[in-house]
Amino acid sequence: MHTQSDRYPPISPKCPHMLHGGDYNPDQWPTEVWAEDMRLMKAAGCNAMSVGIFAWSRLEPQEGQYEFGWLDRIMDMLAENDAFAILATPSAARPAWLDARYPECCKVTAEGQRRDHGMRHNFCWSSPAFREKVTAINTRLAERYGTHPALLMWHVSNEYGGEGSGAPCYCELCQAWFRDWLRDRYDNDIETLNHAWWTAFWSSRYESFDQIDAPGPLGERAIHGLTLDWKRFNTHQAIDFYRHETSTLKRITPDVSCTTNFMWAFEPQDYWQWANEVDIVSWDGYPGWHCRGDDVREAAGAAFNHDLFRSLKAGRPFMLMESVPSVTSWFPVCKLKRPGMHKLSSLLAIAHGSDTVQYFQWRKSRGATEKFFGAVVDHVGHEDTRVFGDVAELGRVLKKLDGVVGTTVRSEVAVLFDWPTRWAVSAMSGLGHRHRNYLGTCMQHHAAFWTMGIGVDVIDQTVALDEYRLAVLPMLYMLRPGMAEKIERFVADGGTAVMTYWSGIVDEHDLCHLGGWPGGGLRKVFGVWDEETDAICEDDVQRLVLSEGNELGLAGEYEIHQLCALIHAEGATVAGTYGEDFYAGRPALTVNHYGDGKAWYVAARTGQDFLDDLYGRLASDLGLRRTLDATLPQGVTARMRTNGETDYVFVMNFTDAVAGVDLGETTFADVVNGGEVAGRLALPAYGVAILSRPAVEA
Ligand code: GAL
Repeated sequence: MHTQSDRYPPISPKCPHMLHGGDYNPDQWPTEVWAEDMRLMKAAGCNAMSVGIFAWSRLEPQEGQYEFGWLDRIMDMLAENDAFAILATPSAARPAWLDARYPECCKVTAEGQRRDHGMRHNFCWSSPAFREKVTAINTRLAERYGTHPALLMWHVSNEYGGEGSGAPCYCELCQAWFRDWLRDRYDNDIETLNHAWWTAFWSSRYESFDQIDAPGPLGERAIHGLTLDWKRFNTHQAIDFYRHETSTLKRITPDVSCTTNFMWAFEPQDYWQWANEVDIVSWDGYPGWHCRGDDVREAAGAAFNHDLFRSLKAGRPFMLMESVPSVTSWFPVCKLKRPGMHKLSSLLAIAHGSDTVQYFQWRKSRGATEKFFGAVVDHVGHEDTRVFGDVAELGRVLKKLDGVVGTTVRSEVAVLFDWPTRWAVSAMSGLGHRHRNYLGTCMQHHAAFWTMGIGVDVIDQTVALDEYRLAVLPMLYMLRPGMAEKIERFVADGGTAVMTYWSGIVDEHDLCHLGGWPGGGLRKVFGVWDEETDAICEDDVQRLVLSEGNELGLAGEYEIHQLCALIHAEGATVAGTYGEDFYAGRPALTVNHYGDGKAWYVAARTGQDFLDDLYGRLASDLGLRRTLDATLPQGVTARMRTNGETDYVFVMNFTDAVAGVDLGETTFADVVNGGEVAGRLALPAYGVAILSRPAVEA
């Protein structure tokens, strides 16, 4: 929970407003269109453009021959037009001369094959030649533009680890680095590693660190400790490369912030390890509006990510660095954003703590793979398009949100979503492949709070729990060092924890806890022993039957799908039992009073209906702060940002029908349209209102 009453500083002191703009590639266009770009940017209310992300071959067309003239002009034009540059380092895509001269820059695949030149993001993190060339270009960029009035901040590379699903490089340099990293991690003691990785299995014992190779299709992939450490190492490598890039920028421009754009809960990189590396968190969000079935679920998924990226820096506003103004070109079905959705989806990010709405891309590329990817400026070339109109309308709204800049979201609830746990769950063999769904499960628990309009942080195991009142721990399969103790203290001190099936099973090396699950001492905190787990087939339905007079005060039955843990209550009170099969009548939901707090154990995978009801009751019992007091209609949520003096309330309708929202007793100011709003708020389909009120204290 964040209690600060002052606002955070803006993304850059140069521009204390909401940032609006996006990836701008003037290097792809003749100079004649640049002036028109500037005019259109003004018309769209854009003030911050990401420039030069993939421009290396225009900046250094031949090795050591730099051409900055075009960028000088663009920087000047931005400054002349009261706009700023989020200036990129160009490492994400390499010029042909570089790979031809230094083939070691290209990644090696897991099969040991050096990749050819082409595509982007596919460089080797270790290559000394690549690092040297990156330093050379970054130095020149920093020296040339460090004091330029248009320079707002550094956009370091692009989506580190992206393309090719973040496949790492397996070259000899990377493998050697991995071995050194392991030596460090295991105190240079191979027997410590052998124990941690349980290498007695299948005669996998190593006699020396030199014998270890990265896991891959041609070699070892049954040792989960190895798989996990390789994943951890991949994050370490990417961060090391980021430090390499930023060391130059920080030396020459110490006062200019650096960021690199993250991706939608991106599996290969543990973004919590990144949290202190970047000055500002930024991410690229591409929800599949209208085309993946359910916009409300899609919005909740985007909200999960927004909450995660805000939580990385304990509530500090983040940047939505990329989003699409109309439609992506790579969804299975590329459906256009319906009227209203552009403003709504953009303000969803703001409501969750973004201080920017940036796009990919400003002007639709004329050729190559992104030529049909949504853009502010279409191939038609003028502003009389539906999409441009939507963007310009949003621009007008953002101009009215100066007061929101730097405010934060307060959360009394934390949902735990942890990268090493996720890696371990996907590496393991068990439960059934489709049943694991760790990310989806965390999102489901999070969605229950999002629907109620209750602020929630998405944290990992490194974050302290003390300031939260409710800790939600879905599928806490892995207990990293200190986590069990943290939960124990949290509950003993009066917190409420909800943990599910498949928790407390392994330690940080993926070695199973012995002596009954949940391990690490959590068996006594939750008062249960989780003996075995039944994974039921897709069409099978189990039932959760709530016990009469249970502590939740809920009655009735709920469906259970996929996973059912067979638990024993060892001190916990049974609040619900199974209704079917040979374990009918055994506990499926329990609560243990431990110290001053309560520890709930949800033994089975229910649908969203039960989670909504469970957390609805807990929210009432705990008196958790809701953005609006009244129950919100289906598909409508309300989020709040505050600076302790003013609350900014975003009421958002993700359905295609008009919705009426009860505002209770409060009279709000309408931040965008002016005037007052009270009583019942009518929101059109995909409508959004931004209201303010004097801050309501907890
Ligand atoms: C992002 C990437 C952009 C652009 C966009 C649309 O992931 O950073 O450069 O490719 O996707 O495909």
